[in-house]
Amino acid sequence: MSISPKVTPIYQTSVFTFEDLNALEAYFEQPGQSYLYSRNGNPNTDELAEEVNQLENGQGAVATSSGISAILTAVLVYCQSGDHVLCAEEIYGGSAALLTQELTRMGVQVSFVPMGEMYSFGNYVQANTKVLLVETISNPMMTVLDLAKVAVECQKQGVKLVVDNTFASPVITKPLELGADIVIHSVTKYLSGHSDVTAGVVVAKVTEDAQRAKQIVVAWGLNLSPFDSWLAARGLKTLKLRIRQHSENALALATYLQNHPKVSEVYYPGLSTHPQNGLASAQGKGWFGGMLSFRIKDEVETVNRFMRGLTHIPFAPSLAGVVSSVSYPLGTSHRALTEEQRAKLGISIGLIRLSVGIEEAEDLIADLEKALAAI
Ligand SMILES: Cc1ncc(COP(=O)(O)O)c(C=O)c1O
Repeated sequence: MSISPKVTPIYQTSVFTFEDLNALEAYFEQPGQSYLYSRNGNPNTDELAEEVNQLENGQGAVATSSGISAILTAVLVYCQSGDHVLCAEEIYGGSAALLTQELTRMGVQVSFVPMGEMYSFGNYVQANTKVLLVETISNPMMTVLDLAKVAVECQKQGVKLVVDNTFASPVITKPLELGADIVIHSVTKYLSGHSDVTAGVVVAKVTEDAQRAKQIVVAWGLNLSPFDSWLAARGLKTLKLRIRQHSENALALATYLQNHPKVSEVYYPGLSTHPQNGLASAQGKGWFGGMLSFRIKDEVETVNRFMRGLTHIPFAPSLAGVVSSVSYPLGTSHRALTEEQRAKLGISIGLIRLSVGIEEAEDLIADLEKALAAI
C-alpha cells in the first residue's frame, strides 16, 4: 500500500527512530534528510519555516515558539554580552520589555531611537552597537517606516537591521528585499490568521545567519510544536486572500470612522491624511493591512460604553485574526509605559485599536455605528 497525503500529516512525536547505527550516522552526515528529535527539527516545523522563507525571499528560516522568541533569537544571532542594541521607540511593548528587562540582565545594552531620527540615528550608535530593531508598521499609531532608507543608514553605521514584519506580512512588504538582514514575525498574527496559534518565525538574508538562528532555537529550546506548526502552515495557505480582504475592509472602516463626529482622529496608512500614505502605498504595493487606531473622547466611561456597545466585535488584546477585534493600548500592550512615554507616543485614554477581520464591511460598520451611538 502506498499512502500519499495531499497535506503533510501532523508528526506529533518528540523523537524519531533509527533502524541501526548506520541510520544514526546518516542523520549526522546528511543534514535535512532525516529527523532525530523534535526540538532539533520536525517535518511540520520545517515546512512552516520553509513556506515563510519563500514568502519573504530569504536564505533560510526557523520557526519559534512565539513572536517574542523569534525576536530573542534574532538579537542573539548578532549579539552577546557587552553588545548594544538599538530599538525604534514605537515598538510592541513586549519587545521593549524583552530588551530592557531581560537582555540587559545578560549584559546587552539597549537604547531607543525616536521615530523622527530613524533615517539618521548615528548619534545613538556606539562602538559595540550590533543591531537595530524596527517594525514595518508600528503599533498602535501605524507609523510606516521607509525600510530601504533605514537599511542604507544601517549599512553606513555597520549595524544589522532586524525587522518585525508582523503588522504588514510579506504580502504587503518584504523587508529582506529592501535591505533588512533578518525579518521576524509573530506568526500568532496574520501568518496563521485564526487566533488559535502562538508562534514565531525568523527569516535570514544569508545562510550563515539562518544556521545560527537554528542553532539558537535548538540550544535555548525555543522551538515550535508540530501541531502549532501544522495549524500555522494551514493558515498560511490563505494569507494572500485574507490580507486583501483585511485591507479592503480596513480602508472602508477607516473612511467611515474618519467621517464620524465622535471620532477625533483615525490612524490608518491607507488614508490620504496619513503622513506616510505615499510611502505605504509604494512599499505596500497598494495594500495597507488590517490594523487601524482611532481616538474617541479621553474618558474611561466613554471607552467602556463603546466596548459594551459592540455586539459582534470582541474586546480582545491581540490582532490579525479573521474575526475583527478591538484592543486598548493604554491598558494592555503599552500598560508598562510611563505617563510621559505614553503622552509622547500619543497613547491616551480614548485611543482604541481595531484589528479589522474578513467579515462583511457593512456588518462591521453597523456594529461600530451602534457602539458610537452609545457614547
Ligand atoms: C508587532 C508584534 N511583534 C511581536 C509580538 C510578540 O508575538 P507573540 O505574542 O507571538 O510572542 C507581538 C504581539 O502582540 C506584536 O504585536
